[in-house]
Amino acid sequence: MNDMPPIQALNPFMPGAGMRPPELVGREKDLETMDRMVARTKLHMLDRGIIFSGLRGVGKTVLLIALQELASSKDMATARIEAEGNTETDYDALFHEITLAATRLPSSWLRENLAKAIANVNSISLDFFGAGVTVSTDKPEQARTNSFKLELLIESVTKELRKNNSGLYLFIDELQEMSEEPLGTLISIQHRMGQEGLPFYIIGAGLPNLPGTLSKSRSYAERLFEYRRIGQLDDADTAEGFQKPAQSNGRPFSDDALKELVRVSHGYPYFIQAYGKAAWNASDSNPTPLSAVAESEPYARAELDEGLYSSRWQRASTPGRRYLTAMAEIGGDTPSSTSEIGGDTPSSTSEIARRLGKTPGEVSMARDSLIKLGLIYSPEHGKVAFTVPDMGEFILRAAPSDGQAYDGRRSNVD
Ligand SMILES: Nc1ncnc2c1ncn2[C@@H]1O[C@H](COP(=O)(O)OP(=O)(O)OP(=O)(O)O)[C@@H](O)[C@H]1O
Ligand SMILES: [Mg+2]
Repeated sequence: MNDMPPIQALNPFMPGAGMRPPELVGREKDLETMDRMVARTKLHMLDRGIIFSGLRGVGKTVLLIALQELASSKDMATARIEAEGNTETDYDALFHEITLAATRLPSSWLRENLAKAIANVNSISLDFFGAGVTVSTDKPEQARTNSFKLELLIESVTKELRKNNSGLYLFIDELQEMSEEPLGTLISIQHRMGQEGLPFYIIGAGLPNLPGTLSKSRSYAERLFEYRRIGQLDDADTAEGFQKPAQSNGRPFSDDALKELVRVSHGYPYFIQAYGKAAWNASDSNPTPLSAVAESEPYARAELDEGLYSSRWQRASTPGRRYLTAMAEIGGDTPSSTSEIGGDTPSSTSEIARRLGKTPGEVSMARDSLIKLGLIYSPEHGKVAFTVPDMGEFILRAAPSDGQAYDGRRSNVD
C-alpha cells in the first residue's frame, strides 16, 4: 500500500495575515497597472505612485508582495518595508531596504554603479553635516540629516537606474502608521523626483484613512498618487478563490457547496481562506459536499476569532474595550442596509459617549488610542468605524466576559 497523505495535508487554503493565498483572485487590474508602469519606466515615461486602502484582511499585504514580485521580475529595483510609526526605525528600514534593493538587481555592472552611488551619498552626507552633527541628539537636526540623506540616496539611485531603463519602486505596508517626519519627506521626494523626470514610485497600502493621512501631511499628495480602494471581491472572483485551489488539489467543491461558501464569505479574502480551509477539512468526499460547509462553520469562526479578532481585542485597554463594545452595540441596533459584512456601519462619537454615560471629551483618549492601535478609524468627522470587518459581531458574540468589558447593556454576550 502506498502512503497517501491525509486529506487535511493537501488543504490549499491559507488564512493568516500576509499569508500568500493559493490563488490571488480579483487583482488582475492591479497587476496590469504594475505591468504597464514597468513598461513605461523602461521607455522613460512617468507615472504616479499608487495607494491601496482597505479594511483589515482584504489582502493589501499579499497584493503589495505580488506587485513587488512582478516589478522585480522585470528588472526594476524594488524595496518593501512595513511602517512602524517610530521615526528612527522607519528611516533605518528605508535606508536598509533601498540599499538592499540595489544589490538584488541582476546586472552586476549596474549593481557596482549603484554601490558607488550609495557610498558617495554616505560620504557626502557625513562631510556635509560633520561628525558632530550626525551623532547629535538634537531631533530637528537629526531629522534634517535623515531627510537630506534619504533624498540624496533616492535621487542618486534613481538617476543611475534611469540610465539603465529601470526605476526604484518602494512598497510600504501599513503606511498610515508612518511617523509624520519620514512620511512628509517621502511624499516630497516623490514630488521632486516626478518634477525631475526620475522614476521613483511609492506604492503604499494601509487602512481606509490613509488617503486623508497623506493629504494632511502634504496638501499636494492627492495629485501624486492614484488611489485604489481594496474591498470585497465580487461573486465570480470569490467562487474562483474557493474553487481553483480546490480543483488543482484534486477535490473541487460541489456546486451547492460553492454557492454557500460564496454566500457566507461575503467575498472577504480572509474569510475565503478560513471557510475554504474549514470546509476542506470537514469531509473526505469528492467533491466536497454542501453538508461539509455547514459542519465546518464553527471551525471557520474559531479560525477567524483566533486570527482576526481576539488578539486585537486583547490589545485594547479597559476603557478601549468599553468604547469598542459601545460601538458594537450601536452597530447591532442599526441593521446594515447593504450586503457588506456587518459591524462596519460608522458610529457617531457623541452617541458612543452617550451610551457610556460620558461626555465626548471624556472618551476621546480611548478613541485616540484605538485609532493608534489601528482598531478603528474615522471615516468622516464625528464618526468612527471598525477597521476589522465584522468586529462588532465578534464583540457581541464572543468578547471575553472578563469583567473588563463594558457592562452597560450587554445582553447577548456569552
Ligand atoms: N486576492 C485574494 N484572493 C484570495 N485570498 C486572498 C486574497 N488576498 C488576500 N487573501 C487572503 O486573505 C488573508 C488576508 O490577507 P492580507 O494579510 O494580505 O490582508 P491585509 O489587507 O494586509 O490585512 P491587514 O490590514 O490585517 O494587514 C490571507 O489569508 C490571504 O491569503
Ligand atoms: Mg497587511
